[in-house]
Amino acid sequence: MLDVQNISTYYGNACALHNVSFRVEKEEIVSIIGANGAGKSTLMKSIMGVVKPSSGYIQYKGKNLMRMPTHAIVKNGVVYVPEGRDVFTALSVQDNLRMGAFSKKLSSREIEERFDEMYEMFPRLKERRKQLAGTLSGGEQQMLAIARGLMSRPEIIMFDEPSLGLAPVIVDEVFDRILAINKKMHISIVLVEQNAYMALSISNRAYVLENGVMTMSGESQQLINDNRIRKAYLGIRET
Ligand SMILES: Nc1ncnc2c1ncn2[C@@H]1O[C@H](COP(=O)(O)OP(=O)(O)O)[C@@H](O)[C@H]1O
Ligand SMILES: [Mg+2]
Repeated sequence: MLDVQNISTYYGNACALHNVSFRVEKEEIVSIIGANGAGKSTLMKSIMGVVKPSSGYIQYKGKNLMRMPTHAIVKNGVVYVPEGRDVFTALSVQDNLRMGAFSKKLSSREIEERFDEMYEMFPRLKERRKQLAGTLSGGEQQMLAIARGLMSRPEIIMFDEPSLGLAPVIVDEVFDRILAINKKMHISIVLVEQNAYMALSISNRAYVLENGVMTMSGESQQLINDNRIRKAYLGIRET
């Protein structure tokens, strides 16, 4: 469905991605693991047209995403939930959700239906729908960022470090919702995580990004048992 072939992305003279290839099939969960600064967010931003790769190509259902502005990419069904859960703190929960549907021209009735769908999936957001997003807890803001991303009914949603800075019990809740989005809504998921164990546990396939280069990829279950991955990313010593 999404096919990234040999892209290289630079910030000035600094190469952040070097010949990176990556693909996502229908209804898959794919994780990208890698240390801080490896280029994970740059890959997401390259797909979304926020930064421009200098070479390679990015195709989505036969369309060339490299020629599209970000809003058109969203309209075509690819959504990115950036790290740091940047919700609009001065807007209510419900108005944040409304912003997520902005790229599609929906009737007020359709928007109401999507609010209801999101409130069913995230009951806590319903209770707090009139509250300013800035007054929510970190976990609730992450749920809101996820729900806002879903308002345009994407076919692929990419989550950038959704567990960062959250308490373990909240992390479990976030991962549980991500699984539900995949299983119940049949949406493909890209999961970018430093929490490699969690990411590998719930994904079908995974990629390892190191210093801007994809160094490994494969079935998540295989990677979880790979000695190099266990040592470098799971903190487990060889036995
Ligand atoms: N806007 C930017 N300008 C210059 N360098 C950047 C910018 N954003 C990221 N970088 C650099 O690109 C590299 C990859 O960053 P990033 O994609 O954010 O990594 P990750 O998400 O894996 O932590 C890092 O060396 C980072 O310092
Ligand atoms: Mg990042």
